[in-house]
Amino acid sequence: MCGIVGYIGNREAYPILIKGLHRLEYRGYDSAGIALIHEGNLKVYKAKGKVSELEHYAEQKDVAGTVGIAHTRWATHGEPTQHNAHPHYSQSEELAIIHNGIIENYGLLKEGLVREGYTFQSETDTEVLIQLIEFMKRSNGTDLSTAVQLALTQVVGAYAIAVLDRNNPDQIVAARKGSPLVVGIGEDEYFLGSDATPIIEFTNRVTYIGDEEIVTIRRGEALKIRTITNIEKTPRIQKLEMTLSQLEKGGYPHFMLKEIFEQPHTLSDCMRGRVNVEGNNITLAGFIDNREKFLNARRIIITACGTSWHAAQIGMYAIEEYARIPVEVEYSSEFRYRKPVIHKDDIVIAISQSGETADTLAAVELAKNAGAFIFGICNVVGSSIPRNTHSGCYTHVGPEIGVASTKAFTAQVAVLTMLAILIGKEKRTVSREEYLNLIRELNLIPEKVAEILKKSGQIEQYAKTFTYAGNCIYLGRGYNFPVALEGALKLKEISYIHAEGYPAAEMKHGPIALVSHEMPVIVIATQSDTYEKVTSNIQEIKARKGRIISVVTEGDQVVRGLSDFSVEVPETLPCLTPLLSVIPLQLLAYHIAVVKGCDVDQPRNLAKSVTVE
Ligand code: F6R
Repeated sequence: MCGIVGYIGNREAYPILIKGLHRLEYRGYDSAGIALIHEGNLKVYKAKGKVSELEHYAEQKDVAGTVGIAHTRWATHGEPTQHNAHPHYSQSEELAIIHNGIIENYGLLKEGLVREGYTFQSETDTEVLIQLIEFMKRSNGTDLSTAVQLALTQVVGAYAIAVLDRNNPDQIVAARKGSPLVVGIGEDEYFLGSDATPIIEFTNRVTYIGDEEIVTIRRGEALKIRTITNIEKTPRIQKLEMTLSQLEKGGYPHFMLKEIFEQPHTLSDCMRGRVNVEGNNITLAGFIDNREKFLNARRIIITACGTSWHAAQIGMYAIEEYARIPVEVEYSSEFRYRKPVIHKDDIVIAISQSGETADTLAAVELAKNAGAFIFGICNVVGSSIPRNTHSGCYTHVGPEIGVASTKAFTAQVAVLTMLAILIGKEKRTVSREEYLNLIRELNLIPEKVAEILKKSGQIEQYAKTFTYAGNCIYLGRGYNFPVALEGALKLKEISYIHAEGYPAAEMKHGPIALVSHEMPVIVIATQSDTYEKVTSNIQEIKARKGRIISVVTEGDQVVRGLSDFSVEVPETLPCLTPLLSVIPLQLLAYHIAVVKGCDVDQPRNLAKSVTVE
């Protein structure tokens, strides 16, 4: 949510910053801007819309300079206009700032600054912060770094900021609390990013800035980090594992399609070294280190948002079935504010692709303060949630760039399923025979996903009949109910067609009123002990002239016969079905959005990582 990027070194900053903005555009794309210092001038260029609009705007401008900062915005305070875009100048136009996050007490701070004679050009909380920094610098006669420190002691909220000073072209001062920030260390040059994606092309040596830390990046000097309470810190340099090719489309028209098609590999990567068919075992480092905690857990609470919350639902079904531990699934945004009862022998599992979702991070803090053991399931290595949990598992699917989550979801489900089976095996709630069967079937999942992907062309053809639909219902039961929720979410977020997911049997309690010949109903009707019941639900929809699109198990006759269109998925165990049944739904949403001409990778109003609450 908002991407920030910075550069200081011997090269021209502009092309590096623009490329960095393109890589970070998935975090927000309603306006973009850049600030550069050259020959004593601090130049700020901004444009409404995507980064390409900024490039267009800057075409005829002077973009020289070897130091600069840039921003791509997802609006929080103030409309997405050129005016409200970042960077923001201070009143004297000597300082410029970019910011990701929310300054909660900006109203109060603004009142104080107005009394001091400051005026404001935008409605943003960010402009208040840069004026406050300038005020601190002037009234205390300090350098920029100290002024930033003094200002941040007054700030309530979340931020990752970078600040330039026209009178000091050899430095960038940056700081973070709650929003991510990483510095890349090159040869006589430094890079700054909300994540490592704008940096990896230039260096794989990075340091992640901690909460409430300020970093002073000076040309030709070592990094200086201190906390806002003035404690010096030694930068911890890490090597990035990411590769540049992971950040490119690799011949696919969209990142989302690439990521859907990567799933046979990402699922293998996620299970590699964890599911071992030859050795007949499953291992998860995060589990082994905390075995007793899991075996003695009174309850497991899983907290997440959006797609990760859907994965959590599937995890609940699997953990209760195999590990026989009661599970509750919580939206992080509700959990953090509703004064939940958390026991010391509860385990709280936080799921997040980005590892930066503000609500999930806050839920983790809450549960930690209540004394629970916190286990993270995240994708982005080194992100905030894994750094704030006691233990956990990475999903290892590589960067997910498409705003609609796909490969992260299947890997989250795979990790939760492995965890459920492993706890069950250790607790002996899973028999040896069941355990071996689960391992065998898990191991076959990547090739079964590859089989389903071959049907993309068929689904694409069918998607063309969907452009008329204004509403859709997705139905599923058992393990496929959360898949119905996920299918509906995918459709609405990228094609803007209203869609709802329901447990199939719940349809009669209200939603059936919506069914007509204009209403597509997508039913997941794979083989399970509720197959006949789902078939009856389909009959009820047919009787009301609803159009049925079904996901069925290979060889199915009955539901296929009732459907207008069907996609077959290979047979597997019920707990593993979501890993297969979600694939046609991802493809359906994708192809419908393409047919409708929607911006698949950057749907309106959305951002990839939601670092504000
Ligand atoms: C939907 C989607 C979002 C995220 C949600 C949580 O396709 O991507 O619903 O799942 O914002 O994000 P993470 O998993 O990064 O915490």
